[in-house]
Amino acid sequence: MLNSVLSTLNVQTVLIGLVVVLVVYKLRQRWKYNLPPGPFCWPLIGSYEAAQATFLHEVFEKYTKKYGPVFTVSLGPFQMVVLNDINSVTEALVKSKADFANRPFFHSVDGFTEGGKNIAFANYTPTWKLHRKIAGKALRQYMFGSHFEEVLHESMNKCLPLMAKETGAFNPENYIDLMVFNILNAVCFGKSVELDDPEFVTFMKIDHELTEMTGKGFVEDMFPIMYKIWTTKKYRTVTKLADELVSIVKKKFNEHDKTFNSDKIRDFTDSLILARKEAEQEENEEMLSQLTDTHLRQTLMDIFNAGIDTSRITLYFAVRYMAGLPDIQSKVQEEIDRVVGKDRLPTVKDRENLSYTEATLHEVMRLGTVVPVGLPHSTMCDTRVGGYDVPKDTVVMINHWALHHDPNYWKDVKKFDPTRYLDENGKLGMKPESWLPFSAGRRVCLGEIVAKPELHLIFATIMQRFNITLPEGTNPELELGGSSSNTQPAPFKIIAKDRKNT
Ligand code: HEM
Repeated sequence: MLNSVLSTLNVQTVLIGLVVVLVVYKLRQRWKYNLPPGPFCWPLIGSYEAAQATFLHEVFEKYTKKYGPVFTVSLGPFQMVVLNDINSVTEALVKSKADFANRPFFHSVDGFTEGGKNIAFANYTPTWKLHRKIAGKALRQYMFGSHFEEVLHESMNKCLPLMAKETGAFNPENYIDLMVFNILNAVCFGKSVELDDPEFVTFMKIDHELTEMTGKGFVEDMFPIMYKIWTTKKYRTVTKLADELVSIVKKKFNEHDKTFNSDKIRDFTDSLILARKEAEQEENEEMLSQLTDTHLRQTLMDIFNAGIDTSRITLYFAVRYMAGLPDIQSKVQEEIDRVVGKDRLPTVKDRENLSYTEATLHEVMRLGTVVPVGLPHSTMCDTRVGGYDVPKDTVVMINHWALHHDPNYWKDVKKFDPTRYLDENGKLGMKPESWLPFSAGRRVCLGEIVAKPELHLIFATIMQRFNITLPEGTNPELELGGSSSNTQPAPFKIIAKDRKNT
C-alpha cells in the first residue's frame, strides 16, 4: 500500500517537476530572446488546436491572421517557428545562408534512414554537403542523356493501354501509381515493370501504408523516453515496413555495384557510383571515407521516398482538376494536338512549346500543394527572421500552402487560372514570386530537375490520349483529403474516353 502511494507520489512529483522545468525554460527563453508571438501552448502538449487539426495549414492560416506571417507554436514538446509569407521564407532560406539548413532530430527518422545517412533528413554537415553534391551531379548526368525520355515513353506505352481498357467510372490512382513508380524505378534501376509485377505490388503497398501511417508522426518522437520503455504497434509496424523497403533497395544496389562498367552507364544508380568514383580525384580522402555505401544506397531511398508520393499525388490533383474543368482541359489538348499531334508521344524538347500545359501544371501545384508545410528545418545558430530572434536548434516550418494562397500575391486566390504564369505572348513568363513548391536555398528539392519534366510529360501524355470527365452527379469542386504532411484530393472517380477513338 505504502509502496503504491509512494510510487504514485513519485510519478506525480516527476511530472510536476518536468512541467515546472519546462515553464521556467520557456519563460527564460521569452526573457532572453525576442521570439515571434503565437498562441497559448500547454507544456508537453503544445497547441491543442494544432494537435487536433486534420490540416495544419488551416490552423496556421488562422494564426497568421492573428499573429502575423512569422509565429511560434508548439506541437507536443516541440516549439517551432512557422514562416507564412515569401519575404520571411526568402530571408530565412536564401538570405541567411546556412542558418536554417539543419534538420531536427527524430529518433524514428534516424532509424528508418540507417542512422541518418540519407539526404532529406540528415543535418547540414560536411559529409551531407558532399553527399548532396555527388547525388546532384549524378542526377544531372543522368538527365542529360536520352535514358530519361526512353524510360518514360516505355512506361507510358505500357500504362496507357491498360487505362484505355476502363469503360466506366474508375479510380485512376492505380494507373498513376504504376506510371510514376515505373518511371522512377527505371530511372534508378533501368528496369520497367508490369502492373502485376510482385515487386511493384509489394513496393506500392509498403509505400501507401508508410505514407498513411507516418502522416501524423509518432508519439515516440514527442516523448523519446518511450523508445527505452515501450514502443507503439504503429512504430513497430512502420519499422518493419521500412526495413523491407531498405532490403529491396540494398539488393538492387549491390547487384549494380558488382556489374558496374563506367563505359556503359545504364541508369541513375550507375551514375551515382560513377560520381562517387570521380569524386576520388577531387575530394579530400578523409572526407570521402565518411561517405559510405549506405549513404549512396540511401540516395535511392531518398528518390523513392521524396519522389514517388509527391509526383503521384500531384498527378492525382492534375487529373482531378482537369475532370472538373473541361474548358481548361480542352485548351491543354488543343495545344498538345497543335505542337505534338496525335501520332507520337510528347518529348522533353516539346516542353518549351507547351506553355499552356506547363502553366496548367504550375496552377495544379499551387492549388494542390502536395507538401503543404514542407520538411522541417532547424536552426544551426542563434539567428533572426522577420524582425524576431530564433534561437539555435529551433524547428522551423515553411508553410508552402500559405505562400500559394497569399491574397497579397494571388488575385482571386481560389480560381484555377493557368494564365497567371503566361506572358503577353502566351509563353511561360517569370516564376511568380510566391510560387515555391520545391522550396529554396541549401535544402531546395534535389529532385526538381527530374520532377518537372517527369510531371510535364506524364500529364501531357494523359491529356493527349484521354478526355477526362467526372461521373454524373459528382461535385466538380475538388474536396481535400490526405493529411497535414501530404494533402491529396479526397477519393474520386473519373471516366476516361480514349481520344484515339474520336
Ligand atoms: C511534385 C514533385 C515534388 C515536390 C512538390 C517536391 C517538394 C519538395 C520540398 C518542399 C522539399 C523540402 C525542401 C526544404 O526542406 O525546404 C523537398 C525535398 C527533397 N526532394 Fe522533392 N519534391 C518533388 C519531387 C521530388 C522528386 C521526384 C525527387 C527525387 C527524384 C525529390 C527529392 C527530394 C529530396 C532528396 C529532398 C531533400 C533535399 C534536402 O534535404 O536537401 N523530390 N522536395
